[in-house]
Amino acid sequence: EKGTYPHFMLKEIDEQPIVMRKIIKEYQNENNELKLDEEIRAAMKAADRIYIIAAGTSYHAGLVGKEFIEKLAKIPVEVHVASEFSYNMPLLSEKPLFIFISQSGETADSRAVLVKIKEMGHPALTITNVPGSTLSREADYTLHLYAGPEIAVASTKAYTAQIAVLAILAVDTARAKGLELDFDPMQELAIVANAMDVLTAQKEEIEQLARDYLSTTRNAFFIGRSADFNVSLEGSLKLKEISYIQAEGFAGGELKHGTIALIEKGTPVIALATQENVNYSIRGNVQEVVARGANALIVSMKGLEQDDDAFVLPKVHELLTPLASVVPLQLLAYYAALHRGCDVDKPRNLAKSVTVE
Ligand code: M6R
Repeated sequence: EKGTYPHFMLKEIDEQPIVMRKIIKEYQNENNELKLDEEIRAAMKAADRIYIIAAGTSYHAGLVGKEFIEKLAKIPVEVHVASEFSYNMPLLSEKPLFIFISQSGETADSRAVLVKIKEMGHPALTITNVPGSTLSREADYTLHLYAGPEIAVASTKAYTAQIAVLAILAVDTARAKGLELDFDPMQELAIVANAMDVLTAQKEEIEQLARDYLSTTRNAFFIGRSADFNVSLEGSLKLKEISYIQAEGFAGGELKHGTIALIEKGTPVIALATQENVNYSIRGNVQEVVARGANALIVSMKGLEQDDDAFVLPKVHELLTPLASVVPLQLLAYYAALHRGCDVDKPRNLAKSVTVE
């Protein structure tokens, strides 16, 4: 139920800190050790390459998860859009493990891949919010998101839950492989939960930014580099699906290879700057678009902020910045849709779970 909330989407955005804390609790035993199925641990350890299969927002979470698994557990990862993978399968490694990411567990495009790879005899792990779902039942293993029911068509808390669970999975695998890590996922996720509390309390500021930047525009760009690029894809999907503003996420450095031609006076460009190693270069990209008339809205992080930044996120671990930076983007999309009179929870042409290929 929505309770006092005007929309499920806003309620689900607000639930994100609670979901982070629930995940911390569910994936820890009484000795504060990570609690994961031994079989999943063994399957991750045995894999020479991981194939993440998903659609939409879950695909975007997969892009973030790739970074975790490669950086922490040192296993190569490919992330594929399910509908493409089915008909254009890449050459597989000798010991692949497939990870299906799906809020609903019912996405037909992902299921088509699952059926195919099971026929080929490969192992599959499903990460889902609905443990009894088709993708969960038909895979060998399941990891639960514990996000609670997600009703709004625009996925919010499932995305952050997917990223949190992928971080835990990556660390668990790294430890199982005996790799040294100076990253405690539970401690860092607890910091994220607190940051999300701060962010979800900043609705008035974000509503004003949505009014200033997005209330009348026909298009918008999201730019970022590295982890910020992954989040810019999610920010643009959120905006287009509920506000119908044509929006695209781009890698900051790729703009000059074509897309910058679209920038004109007043074009909103939402730039993410949460990564220290690319802070200088993304700010260069912002200058390039501003010089062509863009209306830049910079979202940065404490410690990396500069005077012109419109919104500064509380500091979280560098690997987990997507969990913080996506929150103002979700709220921007929400308020942009609201100001434009759109049906936030049930956008046109969309269904909550896409059960046709
Ligand atoms: O249930 P799933 O996670 O498999 O759904 C995948 C996509 O259909 C879903 O994420 C979709 O992109 C959302 N509407 C995005 O907000």
